[in-house]
Amino acid sequence: MTDVTLNFYEKNAEDYAAGKLAPNPRLFTFLDRCRPEGKVLELGTGGGVDAAAIVKRGFDLDATDGSSELAAIASRRIGQPVRTMLFNELNAVGIYDGVYACASLTHVPRSDLRGVIEKVYRALSESGVFWASFKAGAEEGSDALGRHYNYLSQGELATLWRAAAPWRTIETEVWLGGAYDRKPTEWVAITALR
Ligand SMILES: C[S@@+](CC[C@H](N)C(=O)[O-])C[C@H]1O[C@@H](n2cnc3c(N)ncnc32)[C@H](O)[C@@H]1O
Repeated sequence: MTDVTLNFYEKNAEDYAAGKLAPNPRLFTFLDRCRPEGKVLELGTGGGVDAAAIVKRGFDLDATDGSSELAAIASRRIGQPVRTMLFNELNAVGIYDGVYACASLTHVPRSDLRGVIEKVYRALSESGVFWASFKAGAEEGSDALGRHYNYLSQGELATLWRAAAPWRTIETEVWLGGAYDRKPTEWVAITALR
């Protein structure tokens, strides 16, 4: 594996997975907007805490992560297979009612993000919902742990989403929260409806 960010997750998988104790509270608003018991793709599931909540709510979850170590941990947690898949390997067409990416696409280089958004648009069914959260910022770069972040602003994310595909609606939300590195973090999430 040559990706520095993925190497970080691969090497620190146990510790990273132990750091998230409860599901993302915004997950449930996303699930409420998806077709009940529909098919949900998770990109970058990490240790599988959100995945477990998605399964518990009765959705047909396709959980994925680029780190095979984290995929194995998540798979043990949720009691079903978790696929090792890179974001840019997504080639599904029209099969998901929802695509959920909590703090994962934040690692995609700016120059590659549009391509991933296009792939997600293609993978969604009509009226499918896409939710993704990002560490906000002004300039692409690495954190103290060596992980790469695209660090986009709320406005830049909305512009990128609009340029990538003909979404019916796009909403953004910003809040202050925590992160694995224990630093106060400004987060921005985007919800887009196909
Ligand atoms: C900050 S963690 C978030 C994990 C989980 N969604 C959560 O909220 O705890 C980012 C996740 O994205 C995965 N990831 C990073 N780059 C990736 C890539 N290029 N393709 C697929 N997964 C990737 C990492 O392995 C890691 O699980």
